[in-house]
Amino acid sequence: MSERVGILTGGGDCPGLNAVIRAVVRKAIDSYDYEVIGFIGGWRGILDMDYDVLDRNKTSGILHRGGTIIKTSRTNPLKEQDGIKKIRESFKKLELSGLIAVGGEDTLGVALILHEGGLPVVGVPKTIDNDLSGTDYTFGYDTAVNTAMEAIDRVHTTAEAHNRVMVVEVMGRHTGWIALAAGLAGGADVILIPEKPFDIDNICQIIKKRHGSGRDFSIVVVAEGAKFKPGHEGEGQMILRKREIDAFGHVYLGGIGNVVADEIEKRTGYESRVVILGHIQRGGSPTAFDRVLATRYGIAAIDMVHNKDFGKMAALRGNNIVPIPLSEAVKGLKFVSEDLYQVAEIFFG
Ligand code: F6P
Repeated sequence: MSERVGILTGGGDCPGLNAVIRAVVRKAIDSYDYEVIGFIGGWRGILDMDYDVLDRNKTSGILHRGGTIIKTSRTNPLKEQDGIKKIRESFKKLELSGLIAVGGEDTLGVALILHEGGLPVVGVPKTIDNDLSGTDYTFGYDTAVNTAMEAIDRVHTTAEAHNRVMVVEVMGRHTGWIALAAGLAGGADVILIPEKPFDIDNICQIIKKRHGSGRDFSIVVVAEGAKFKPGHEGEGQMILRKREIDAFGHVYLGGIGNVVADEIEKRTGYESRVVILGHIQRGGSPTAFDRVLATRYGIAAIDMVHNKDFGKMAALRGNNIVPIPLSEAVKGLKFVSEDLYQVAEIFFG
């Protein structure tokens, strides 16, 4: 019997997941004669032995499709009764030679724990937030940035027509990668990111100065996790959509755009509107960059399984894909550097 390898996609979905799955399946079957099974719904699939055998037919025509054909969830096996034990049993029952976990810090954190417990696991870095350490880029980020940039371009024309301040809220729980890149590419007048708590008076000054010098509209891009500087009501706190946490302990963000727009309108008198992009950034077809990156990650991951290079994640370093320890990937988030933010600040106002 040929060897069997599993794959799962965990956490928030992102454009390019299907490209990874397709690449893994193609190389696994054509080069190594493996059978590939896809666990349905992230870690939930392996806990419940819910899976599908993936072949060439099932993975053809999916390269350009967003989402994931094997579904995803935020199920955390560490929070489930006997979660790790159940995963071990599934590995045994299915005689898995390896598991490819495609995910961000949460999914790969679980992968690391499984590896430390002796299970053959490798990781692929996924998140539109681009905040995973150890890799230059995660796939999905480029698509999210392009979607947000396109939205900013559209918002520009209506802002200009109405002489308004338009606040565009983008995703980015702990880091401002999407806000920074989309804001820079879209010519935003102010960009607010979680790494740099902001002074609302200062922001209003920038906008007033701009409006006083012949421009009658402004575009403010704000990451969902951006925070006010000390001195403002709610200082240092993220704006929440609801007061609950998910299985990985994350709060539900959303609403900073409304707060910022209200404050700007109150303090400057300029009419302000908000656009919350939300999951539009996570949906749809991946860009060419993400399709290629996701494909390269998938090929590297199945090669790592074949070489028994476990406990590692495929990472992009410069233009090369290299295996790095999972521990390096989940040791802490990758934040936007001061240097990069300073480049964006040159264009404020
Ligand atoms: O982690 C990726 C991400 O898109 C974050 O930017 C965002 O805060 C979160 O997922 C939203 O998650 P959900 O789809 O579960 O609401």
